[in-house]
Amino acid sequence: MPNTSALPANNKHQPHGSLKKAPALRWGFFSLCLLLFPLAGAAGQPRSAAIATAHPDASRAGMKILEAGGNAFDAAVTVSAALAVVEPYSSGLGGGGFWLLHRADTQGEVMIDGREKAPLAATRDMYLDDTGKPIAGASVNGPLAAGIPGEVAALVHIADNYGRLPLKQTLAPAIRLAEKGFEVDEHYRRMAAFRLDALRASPAAARQFLKDNDVPPVGYIVRQPDLAKTLRFIADQGRQGFYGGEVARRMVSSVRAADGIWTEKDLQAYQIVERPPIVGKYRGWRVVSAAPPSSGGIVLLEMLNMLALQDIGKMNTVDRIHYVVEVMRRAYRDRAQWLGDGDFVQLPVQRLLSREYARRMAVGIDRERATPSRQLKSFRAEGQDTTHFSILDKEGNYVAATLSINYPFGSGFVAEGTGVLLNDEMDDFSIKPGVANVYGLVGAEANAIEPGKRMLSSMSPTFLESDQGVAILGTPGGSRIITMVLIGLLEAVDGKSALEWVKQPRFHHQYLPDEIQLEPGGFSEELRLELEKRGHKVVVKERPWGNMQAVFWNRKENRVEVASDPRGGGLAIKATNK
Ligand code: GLY
Repeated sequence: MPNTSALPANNKHQPHGSLKKAPALRWGFFSLCLLLFPLAGAAGQPRSAAIATAHPDASRAGMKILEAGGNAFDAAVTVSAALAVVEPYSSGLGGGGFWLLHRADTQGEVMIDGREKAPLAATRDMYLDDTGKPIAGASVNGPLAAGIPGEVAALVHIADNYGRLPLKQTLAPAIRLAEKGFEVDEHYRRMAAFRLDALRASPAAARQFLKDNDVPPVGYIVRQPDLAKTLRFIADQGRQGFYGGEVARRMVSSVRAADGIWTEKDLQAYQIVERPPIVGKYRGWRVVSAAPPSSGGIVLLEMLNMLALQDIGKMNTVDRIHYVVEVMRRAYRDRAQWLGDGDFVQLPVQRLLSREYARRMAVGIDRERATPSRQLKSFRAEGQDTTHFSILDKEGNYVAATLSINYPFGSGFVAEGTGVLLNDEMDDFSIKPGVANVYGLVGAEANAIEPGKRMLSSMSPTFLESDQGVAILGTPGGSRIITMVLIGLLEAVDGKSALEWVKQPRFHHQYLPDEIQLEPGGFSEELRLELEKRGHKVVVKERPWGNMQAVFWNRKENRVEVASDPRGGGLAIKATNK
């Protein structure tokens, strides 16, 4: 059920759920989706609530809010804010994200689009020099690389419209964590070392995240009193506590003093959008995923539509991997060519998701040979960041949310006096057709920079629903997010456990560069050689990637599984109903 048209944001004075009180348009949309892709079985209630996030402190904080009477949406606010504090290299108040919500009472779902927007003074060629060449680092480091953040607006919106607890309560754990601090671990050290130059360039970032201007040792406590103050403003004043008043003034003056282009008008004008998710079907499962400006749902469904044309379960491993890679290549080609912010450009969503299109694409797949990406017509022109969490509450509400500040530690720039680390999401725009971003992704006209436009994303919070149950999953990982979700989702459809989805070895193809990227130890030597014989270039990466967080509510057996990717340091927890 592709649909990218923006529905108006809810009236925030409607308590507890715009979906329930939504106008006929939204009800019509959901009814149609449910008619076409019915959810088998009545909603029921899960035996356990479950939370999987990338950080133990965030998982525990979310579970406490559920125990205090909050619902999954309150827990999502708490977890997002806690992650903003303890995983500063992944997401934060200075970033954005997509929150996919499912309400048990209406059986409706919505995507809260809190993606960053280009500042109003942004221009198409702002990262190019006089000769039209990209200026090294300009879209990645410092405040010029930062889009206008959406996370705070999204959290306030979720709290006002879907939660039942006040922000003062749901933000309290994050405030505590910011004041008391958290311990540096090896992962923090790796991320900080990777972004050391950018952090050193910002005095406030260096004070907040480094020790004596260097990477802090394991066990060092990172305290963020300015961030705690900003969180308190938000807890007291809602969005005005961030997009107006002292915090906004400080952010803008700090950004402009360091050659950024934000204005207070940019902050005041920022609005989240409630969007219908992208919905499709794969082997009897209803797939619900992120709508544009994420490419996630479209690319995922496009891949699944092509996969559904073959019985990949019956293929031998080489044939199966070869076919899946060819499908990835084609869907990522379309990502590069066609996708961007649907509020600014016409997206051919219906066409890309049609069965007919999948058939046409699949016909071109040679079952024995890799198709060189350059032969795919009509294109003109390592995921260490971001975070994901999955939540199920005991009423059967669920949330999948993927949040980001883009590169590790975002732009590396902290606005003085606010503790807010700014994103460098502007790099997700196509800064010049055909020029790759930090993830090696290329883009075209649809994703060119325009004032107020949202940059294309790969973040793919996803639900998978059938009479078997509900899978709630997602992961960080830049351009590889969508293929990771695909691999996890195929495991789920095969009836594997949630732990298997998150553990599965990962491979990835994104059209350009024309190579299969592989986790170390991902394929056997024999499989690699077979793929190379078919014309694939296989590149084994130095490190594994992703940090998938997943929940499975097995409705048939009324049991809940929860799993956190063993590649990361997250925590999956369950609380059984009394
Ligand atoms: N910044 C990564 C993404 O949105 O895809």
